[in-house]
Amino acid sequence: KPKYQVIDGLIMNASVSSKCLRGAIQYKPRDDDIFIVTFPKCGTTWAQHIVHNILNKGETFRSYEEIKVRSPFLEMSGPKIAEVMPRPGSIKTHLPFNLCPYSPSAKYIYIARNPRDCCVSYYHHTKMLPEYHFENGNFDDFFEIFIDGETDWGDYFDHLISWYEHRNDPNVCLLTYEEMKNDTRAAILKIARFLGPQYAEMLENDDKLMLKILDQTSVSYMKRFNKEMKHFYTSGNKDTCHGQEMPEGLKHVREYYEKHNLNMPFEVEFVRKGSTGDWKNYFSPDQSKRLIEKFDAKTKDTDIPKLWENLF
Ligand code: A3P
Repeated sequence: KPKYQVIDGLIMNASVSSKCLRGAIQYKPRDDDIFIVTFPKCGTTWAQHIVHNILNKGETFRSYEEIKVRSPFLEMSGPKIAEVMPRPGSIKTHLPFNLCPYSPSAKYIYIARNPRDCCVSYYHHTKMLPEYHFENGNFDDFFEIFIDGETDWGDYFDHLISWYEHRNDPNVCLLTYEEMKNDTRAAILKIARFLGPQYAEMLENDDKLMLKILDQTSVSYMKRFNKEMKHFYTSGNKDTCHGQEMPEGLKHVREYYEKHNLNMPFEVEFVRKGSTGDWKNYFSPDQSKRLIEKFDAKTKDTDIPKLWENLF
């Protein structure tokens, strides 16, 4: 089993600072805040890049460090960095609806991903990051933890249901990873429209800009940040991040690595395959059946299954 910790009843990975997590939950959103909310491994980073490109008219993140301060991960980095970040910008969080800092004036983009691909992606994530101590773990063990809702950030289904109930709120925009893959251009426009009519208009009138954003948010383009991620946690500057003070929670992660003598694997693949259907390479027929049964039981009173009509 991967190594986890429990903070106030929430399962977290061992390198999360409890102070930052609590601070994140108490963060008071500003009216112009834009949250990117997901269960882990559902397309968070991709959405962060898309939003940043839209808000900055095709200007993309130049480094892994820049992402950390211009689209901070609320519970991991701590709330302070979100308070001072340049706006308009987005804040990343994996918090379920009931714990997520809420303001009716803030905007929330929720990305949902089919649970089988999410599970496979989370398996790779858990094997890759040394704080999980799961580098020798296997998929079958991880599957049991996922289906029982015992990974960090808790139960996939409860998370999805908590946000799905709000999908029609005027300040919530729900997309699936699969619709983003299937028609990325349409997904970018949907996000732009939600961020403000001026952004949609900008893209509708400038196809070059749209093509630039499609390129800068592609898997191949974003893979360049993988290498920087390894460097950031294991050998980068400890005190500063993108020219400013290192966010408190990230300092905590670095100290955790140092204290436990942890290192990133040679090949870090935070941006990995970026495809749909990879689950077929991992799930046994029995695992697939069990996950669908769990999905059906959990979502029976909702129309969530419609999100992935072609996949189940
Ligand atoms: P896989 O592991 O299935 O490849 P998150 O950002 O929420 O951690 O999600 C990670 C998943 O999103 C990974 O899925 C990753 O490869 C995928 N991803 C990252 N960037 C992407 C992009 N530009 N397009 C499509 N998928 C992307």
